[in-house]
Amino acid sequence: MKKVIVIDGGPRKTFNTASMLQKIAEGASSVSNEIEVKTVRLYDLDYKGCMSCMACKVKGKASNVCKFRDALTPVLEEIAQADGLVLGSPIYFGDVTGRMRTFLERLAFPWLSYNDYSLTAPKRMPVVLVETMNGLPDRNNSNGYGSMEHCIAAALGQPERLVAYNTYQVNNYDHYELGGFSEEAKRQYRDEHWQEDLQKAFEAGKRMAEMITKE
Ligand SMILES: Cc1cc2nc3c(=O)[nH]c(=O)nc-3n(C[C@H](O)[C@H](O)[C@H](O)COP(=O)(O)O)c2cc1C
Repeated sequence: MKKVIVIDGGPRKTFNTASMLQKIAEGASSVSNEIEVKTVRLYDLDYKGCMSCMACKVKGKASNVCKFRDALTPVLEEIAQADGLVLGSPIYFGDVTGRMRTFLERLAFPWLSYNDYSLTAPKRMPVVLVETMNGLPDRNNSNGYGSMEHCIAAALGQPERLVAYNTYQVNNYDHYELGGFSEEAKRQYRDEHWQEDLQKAFEAGKRMAEMITKE
């Protein structure tokens, strides 16, 4: 059995980010019964970011998996053994959510060697990074996964980036003070792009599973 871990860094269980991740999971599962997809919702877990305990850098006992124990520990241990990793987050104020960022601190700090600044994960694997946002392809403020994308590329392998732009933020724009958005323009964009975004997500999941099963 090969395992793909999907990390949902958004708070909403049925909206844009969750839907993109669900499609990736479906795409991966469609390839073979030998692919197990596990989704972890970070907002359901009680955990901290890197505590700077330095336990991962102790001489003779250095570890590339975080040693701090809380609800994230089993997830980090599972990722260390996984065959594929998918991360998804809405963009909040230009960056991934705080939850995603604190998760990434715990994932990546143990990879980093302070001897030679190399980044080494327990295992390399294909990675897909998903972002959803209000911004448009040519007008957005997203830094995406920021410096963490470089860490992921060095330690796990070059990630594939999937972005859903100009998402529908609420189901009914009439109920909210969202006058800065034209619901009509949003609807038109959604009608033209959303199914295609979901299809791209499905295909990305499928590609990942095909890569893994070929190994
Ligand atoms: C706190 C907050 C901050 C946001 N900041 C941005 C932003 O800086 N840029 C942007 O394009 N969209 C921003 N958005 C919009 C969300 O990124 C967008 O609606 C996203 O698709 C939401 O994902 P979800 O539907 O999975 O919750 C923000 C939304 C919230 C709630």
